[in-house]
Amino acid sequence: MDDRLRFRRFESAEGQSTFAQDVRRGLSSHPKHLSPKYFYDALGSQLFEAICHLPEYYLTKTERRILTDRRDAILDVVDGHADGEHRLIELGSGSSTKTRLLIEAFLERQDTLHYLPVDISDSVLERSALELLQDYPDLRITALAADYTTALGALARDDDLRTGEEPTLVTFLGSSIGNFEPPASRTLLTHVREVLKTGDSVLLGADLKKSEQLLTPAYNDELGVTAAFNLNLLVRINRELGGEFRLADFEHRAIYNHEWGRIEMRLISRRTHDVPIRELDMTVRFERGEYIHTENSYKFDPEQIRDLAVATGFGLKRSWFDEQQHFSVNLLCAGD
Ligand code: TRP
Repeated sequence: MDDRLRFRRFESAEGQSTFAQDVRRGLSSHPKHLSPKYFYDALGSQLFEAICHLPEYYLTKTERRILTDRRDAILDVVDGHADGEHRLIELGSGSSTKTRLLIEAFLERQDTLHYLPVDISDSVLERSALELLQDYPDLRITALAADYTTALGALARDDDLRTGEEPTLVTFLGSSIGNFEPPASRTLLTHVREVLKTGDSVLLGADLKKSEQLLTPAYNDELGVTAAFNLNLLVRINRELGGEFRLADFEHRAIYNHEWGRIEMRLISRRTHDVPIRELDMTVRFERGEYIHTENSYKFDPEQIRDLAVATGFGLKRSWFDEQQHFSVNLLCAGD
């Protein structure tokens, strides 16, 4: 099996100590904030996996339904313009569960498939790569343990990762695009475009605007898994930076911001108190009711998805929806 797996770990493009720097900067700002990419340590990735199984979290189920029903239609459009065996790059592959649908569809159309999953959590990446190789003898994997920016840089520039003649499909599922601010989402897709040749494709999963009654529970589940996922950021600061956060002092909250069309995730301080963080040599003061903003999850209109595609060097070829129009899977085609 070994000769079918290459595993590459990258340090973040901005250097090793970014977690410390980002925490310092974020907790010194007003309002306080932390970057969502730090959710995904080994435990955080498992908690996110659990979120995907929650009854309230309609996103994963709905996207999986669309991919199950439309995988062949999707690959027909992807295939339309290209000769030769495709390679498949996935940003934020996690457990690769939904991607199996596409891997299987590809392997019905071509003899072998080179799959290049990118994930920030190397433990999850390694486990899922080994499982995939076991299940699909005709699969070859180059796994990239890195954040998106670092991985896309390597995919655009490194001789052994750069695109050759073969057509490429990049998948970016789960509405992770919505976790970026609009300008950052354009920058990211521009970097994706730089990895691709004209005619290559991106499959983009994007959650749609809908009623608040459906939206907020998806980020405020009754079992409290999302709360644990959010609070795990503080656990991580305690472990890696010598923080003294007490979880009981913070409360998870998710609200829908209508003006911006986004869910905002917060950790709210239940009382006024100070939290030392030893390795940063700082003490952070929290007022009662003050919050740390930990994530946005933007929700889209179909027109916004088209605009995003066009602004970043793509055309929107086709979109697929579930019956209730809760979620969209969009095929972008790299232009000249
Ligand atoms: N991409 C997912 C989303 O925006 C990420 C996510 C789901 C998430 N639930 C979360 C991030 C809870 C932070 C907290 O839906």
